[in-house]
Amino acid sequence: MASREPLGYVIDNSTPTRVRFVATDPPPPGDFVLVGEGEGVLALVEAVGTRSVSMSALSGVYEPSIVARLSRMSNDVFFECVAEVVGVYRDGALVLPRRPPLPGEPVYRAPDELLSEIFGGSEPYKVRLGVLAARPTVPVYIDVNKLVTRHLAILAVTGAGKSNTVAVIADRLVRIGGTVVILDFHGEYVGSDIGGGVNVVEPLLNPRSLSLSELLVLLGIEPHYYHQERVLRRAYERAIADPSGPFLERLLKAVESLRGKEEPRAVAAVANKVEALVEKYGDVLRDDVPDVISRLRPGRANVIDLGRLDEDAADVVVSHVLRRLLAERKRRVMTGHGFPSPVMVFVEEAHILAPRDRSTLSKYWMARVAREGRKFGVGLAIVSQRPKVIDQDILSQMNSKIVLRIVEPSDQRYVREASELLSEELAQNLSALNTGEAVVLGPIVPVPVIVRVDKYWGRKGGADPDVVSEWLSMREERARAAEAVAELAELARSG
Ligand SMILES: Nc1ncnc2c1ncn2[C@@H]1O[C@H](COP(=O)(O)OP(=O)(O)OP(=O)(O)O)[C@@H](O)[C@H]1O
Ligand SMILES: [Mg+2]
Repeated sequence: MASREPLGYVIDNSTPTRVRFVATDPPPPGDFVLVGEGEGVLALVEAVGTRSVSMSALSGVYEPSIVARLSRMSNDVFFECVAEVVGVYRDGALVLPRRPPLPGEPVYRAPDELLSEIFGGSEPYKVRLGVLAARPTVPVYIDVNKLVTRHLAILAVTGAGKSNTVAVIADRLVRIGGTVVILDFHGEYVGSDIGGGVNVVEPLLNPRSLSLSELLVLLGIEPHYYHQERVLRRAYERAIADPSGPFLERLLKAVESLRGKEEPRAVAAVANKVEALVEKYGDVLRDDVPDVISRLRPGRANVIDLGRLDEDAADVVVSHVLRRLLAERKRRVMTGHGFPSPVMVFVEEAHILAPRDRSTLSKYWMARVAREGRKFGVGLAIVSQRPKVIDQDILSQMNSKIVLRIVEPSDQRYVREASELLSEELAQNLSALNTGEAVVLGPIVPVPVIVRVDKYWGRKGGADPDVVSEWLSMREERARAAEAVAELAELARSG
């Protein structure tokens, strides 16, 4: 099944999981080879380096004039490659061989048809992500059930193609009937065509539906302010029990009614904070808005626009959505009522919402979704350009990862610690990836693979702004205005 001519030959020190081979015309990193005769062992090329026949023989001879002379010798250069063994493909599964390949065994380029069978697929159980970066003729599909039930992290430096990846996956999920929620920090997806046009959900919350913890964050009552927390808890219970009138007004009244019964400074502080809350978030917290879950449309991409919120408010909205989704999906599974569709939630700027060094509500609810979401059909995809700032637990619970270009070694190390499938050799490719290219790992793909993600074909707000043309058109505008002024002055003078 392999093409006739071997690319190269196995050398010494190979192991059952790692093949070292030499080649004169090497495959690019990210490509696949078949090792040995017969059906062959499939392996992913992770590293390719140059060698010189003469310099290997005369090791240590680096005198420039000798090197220059050697460089003119023909057939002096060859390549040494390292490939990670992926397995023998048999009956739709990859089985790891027990013995290492023997030195001298031939290495072939893996045929397109074999790779298409392994990485391809068809909707609706699989959706297309892109093509093999080293072999654009081979499409790569991802497993939808595993995507939703085992969660995903999309990581890369800024501008490497994270939002594009979100758009591609979200669009394809909606087109197979899926429900998507995108928590959009920069109003980036608001006007997009994802899934045939998105349902924009304003980040309005009914204060009555807020939990006590959510109110504590919004009010800025930190965990060690015991007295204030106690005042709020008592007032909250009273306000919740009384359905008449606007909730925050009743909450304030309930706080006031605790004067003389609770620590006076705590009562005054909480009263001030509730008043400040009304002033600051009055347009986000409204008694007339229905529960956020009832504003989500099944079978669509729902974009919750967090653009105008500060980080605390975004934390409350995101955690509220996750908490309510999980509860409504649980209710659906247990009672047949509740949110009708399994849902995939994408959270941009995950390092702000689930930071390593602080506890936030969103972090707590992301961890809950990561643990319990699979039973109830709530999938989570976190997106970030600062992986090392994300909580390590949450990052490792995102079982699948799409890692686009990452340059900083400390970020690479952090991602590697959270992903057992990311070998050191594969991680070394991360800084050399082009825009849109990604190492994809975890249950969504049969084996780790380097993919060129498709470019989202529709309208998405995420493209880099064309700064120069904005400046040019402003300059033209100014020139036109100056001309108009000059014309008017001329008219005034002549008239
Ligand atoms: N797979 C791709 N193929 C071709 N172009 C791409 C691809 N992915 C992204 N691009 C282009 O690269 C630019 C940046 O992409 P994108 O907005 O997705 O990056 P990002 O990682 O989300 O950046 P940020 O960190 O700023 O949010 C865009 O102009 C986009 O069109
Ligand atoms: Mg982005």
